[in-house]
Amino acid sequence: MAPSVLSNPLRPAILAAARSGRVKEAVTRVPVTKSIVRRFVAGEALSDAAAAASALLGSGRAVSVDHLGEDVHDAEQARGTVAAYLELLAVLGRLPAGRFDGTHPLEVSVKLSALGQTLPRDGEKVALDHARTLCTAAREHGVRVTVDAEDHTRTDSTLSIVRELRADFPWVGAVLQAYLRRTEGDCRDLGGAGSRIRLCKGAYREPESVAYRSRADVDASYLRCLRILMGGDGYPMVATHDPAMIDAVAPLLAETGRSTDSFEHQMLFGIRDLEQVRLVDVGRRVRVYVPYGTQWYGYFMRRLAERPSNLRFFLRSTLTRD
Ligand code: FDA
Repeated sequence: MAPSVLSNPLRPAILAAARSGRVKEAVTRVPVTKSIVRRFVAGEALSDAAAAASALLGSGRAVSVDHLGEDVHDAEQARGTVAAYLELLAVLGRLPAGRFDGTHPLEVSVKLSALGQTLPRDGEKVALDHARTLCTAAREHGVRVTVDAEDHTRTDSTLSIVRELRADFPWVGAVLQAYLRRTEGDCRDLGGAGSRIRLCKGAYREPESVAYRSRADVDASYLRCLRILMGGDGYPMVATHDPAMIDAVAPLLAETGRSTDSFEHQMLFGIRDLEQVRLVDVGRRVRVYVPYGTQWYGYFMRRLAERPSNLRFFLRSTLTRD
């Protein structure tokens, strides 16, 4: 039988449990949690994100900074997200350029659900208006924006908002998730000239009707999507830590005649740091996704769900604390 979803058979159960208020309370109240969270999250304050971004820029990597938060429940919270991003953009705009071998070392990643996308009645319009505000400020500060992908119920809405944003801000990046059965088609539709597409495997709990469930199927889909993007005219952002996916890039470069400055690798803060540095050393562009903020719970649980060893480490630390 094919191994279960990605590499962790417990993943669906962890992602399901993560939605329970009681689990959230239990996880966030354990004192040791915060020290483990720091492995994946730059910190709770904007200054933590700025320090992490500066260090990465100094090492020749680019950054995409994410102010953590998702699924806001009212318009006030959505406005709070906008205010936090405006502050972040101003700080990023003042950072020293670093040693990244490319033109746009600074990026922010944003979740439309944090901008109000799922608010009743006019949520999509609210999120689009807020995203426009962020893109306008980002342009002033020389920062790029990529719109994160969330669960499949929002994919159509998210991609249509990205298309609208691109009319005024053609550099806005989209994220496609290889575990979704629709994604090969989306790679063809969205991978046109200049289009920045981040390809990841996908981190949410999705039904079999819309998503591949076995690791083999997800990996095969990732490779098919990567081939489409590398063969297209866009700017692929290869977001994976998986050595097999990363190794697939070199033959595709030879096959398509792409140069190493026409795409980039992306990885998450705190994951495979040595591999990130190795890729920079061999002349590849690398961008690191740097999350920060107090709303780290959803992000942290997705990272725990990805790796049994992360979960084991978390449980062991929790149970053996003084
Ligand atoms: P895979 O899970 O097979 O892992 C391959 C190897 O990477 C592992 O063997 C291990 O060495 C290492 N690794 C992976 N995850 C780890 C972890 N949590 N802890 C420790 N080691 C780990 N998803 C989404 O749905 N929407 C989005 O917008 C984004 N955005 C995004 C941006 C960037 C820059 C990245 C790198 C990833 C995302 N993701 C995402 C997450 C993505 O969908 C996926 O869940 C993770 O990247 C893990 O998948 P891999 O491709 O790394 O492969």
